[in-house]
Amino acid sequence: MQLDLRSPWSIGPVEIPTRLVLAPMAGVSVQAFRRQGRRFGAGLVCSEMVSCAGLHHGNERTLGYLRIARDEHPLAVQIFGSEPAVMAEAARMVEAAGADLVDINFGCPVRKVTKTGAGATLLEEPRRAARIVSAVAGAVSVPVSVKLRRGLANGSRACLDVGPRLVEAGASTLTLHPRSAQQMYTGDADHSLTAELVELVPVPVIASGDVTSADRARAVLARTGAAAVMVGRAAQGNPWALRAMLEDRPGQPDREEVVAELVLFMRESVRELGERRAAGFLKKFYGWYLGGGRFPRALRQEIVRLPSAAEVEARLLELAPGARALLRRLERTVPEREEVVLGLPISVYGGG
Ligand SMILES: Cc1cc2nc3c(=O)[nH]c(=O)nc-3n(C[C@H](O)[C@H](O)[C@H](O)COP(=O)(O)O)c2cc1C
Repeated sequence: MQLDLRSPWSIGPVEIPTRLVLAPMAGVSVQAFRRQGRRFGAGLVCSEMVSCAGLHHGNERTLGYLRIARDEHPLAVQIFGSEPAVMAEAARMVEAAGADLVDINFGCPVRKVTKTGAGATLLEEPRRAARIVSAVAGAVSVPVSVKLRRGLANGSRACLDVGPRLVEAGASTLTLHPRSAQQMYTGDADHSLTAELVELVPVPVIASGDVTSADRARAVLARTGAAAVMVGRAAQGNPWALRAMLEDRPGQPDREEVVAELVLFMRESVRELGERRAAGFLKKFYGWYLGGGRFPRALRQEIVRLPSAAEVEARLLELAPGARALLRRLERTVPEREEVVLGLPISVYGGG
C-alpha cells in the first residue's frame, strides 16, 4: 500500500503531521531554516548536532543552539558525544529547552568528531553506543531518536547489528543514512539496508539519503517500509522542494518568492547569529537560493561580494521589487522573536 506523504504518524507521544523530516545539517539547520521547513510542510525538523561537552561547559555559542521557537514544534535537538553521563546531562538540558525529541548522532564522519570517540565511531562500538542511549533515555521523558550511517568502511552493515541494540536500550526511532562514514557524501545511499533495518526493529525508521523529489520520496518509502523520509541537501535554499514533494507537483518559485524567502531567512539569521557571524553563514545560502537558473551567475557573484546583509537585501529588493509585498505578508505569519523564544536559564542571546 502506498503511504501518503501527507499522512500523520507519531514517535511515542509526539505527533508528526507529515512524512517529511527536515535533516539535521551542521552549518545549515539554524532556527530560520527549521521554521521555514515547518512552513513548507516538514512534519519534523532537527537542529544541527550540538556538542554535549560544549553544553556541559556552558559554552555560550553551544547553548545558543538550544533556542527553540514556538512555531518549530515538533522539533528534535541532536547531540553528540561519547560519555554516557555527559550525554545524559546534555539530554536533560535539551528537554528543559523545550525539544520534543532528543536525537543522538552516531553518524558524523568528520574526523574532528570521530577522533573524540563520538559520531560514526560508535557504530562499531555497539556496547558503548547502547550505554549512551540507555543513559540518555533514562535521563529524559521525551522520546529518544538515533541517527546512524551504515557503518565506518564501505560495504559495512554495522547499522543492522547496532540498530536493534539501540532500540533495546531505549531508542524510540532510528534514522538511517545508508552511506558509510568513509563514503562521506559520495556514491548513492543504499536503501536496501534501510529495508533490512525496518524488518529488524519494532520502532519507526526514517530513511535519509538522496530524497530529492516526490517520486524519490515515494519510491524510498515503498521500497523500505520506512515511516518517513528525511530531506537534507535538496532543501538547501529550496524549501519549495518540500512543498513539491507533498503536493506532488514540480514547484518552481518565481523570482519574487525566492527573494522574499531569502530576505526573511537573512533577517532571521542576523537576529539569531548576530551581524558578523550571519555574514559568513549566509554566503553559501546566496548560491543555493539564487542558483539553479533562478538568477544569472554574474548577479550571484556580485551578491557574495557585498559586505553586509543589509546591502544584499537592498540589492535583492531592487531586482525584485514585487518581493516587498510578499515579504510583509510572510513577516506577519512569523511571530515576533520575543514571543517565540523560550526562556533559558542564562543569557545566550546575541550570537556569540
Ligand atoms: C552540510 C551538511 C551537514 C550535515 N550535518 C549533519 C549533522 O549535524 N547531523 C547529522 O546527523 N547529519 C548531518 N548531515 C547528514 C544529513 O542529515 C543527511 O543524512 C545526508 O545529507 C543525506 O541526506 P540528503 O541526501 O537528503 O542530503 C549533514 C549533511 C550535510 C550535507
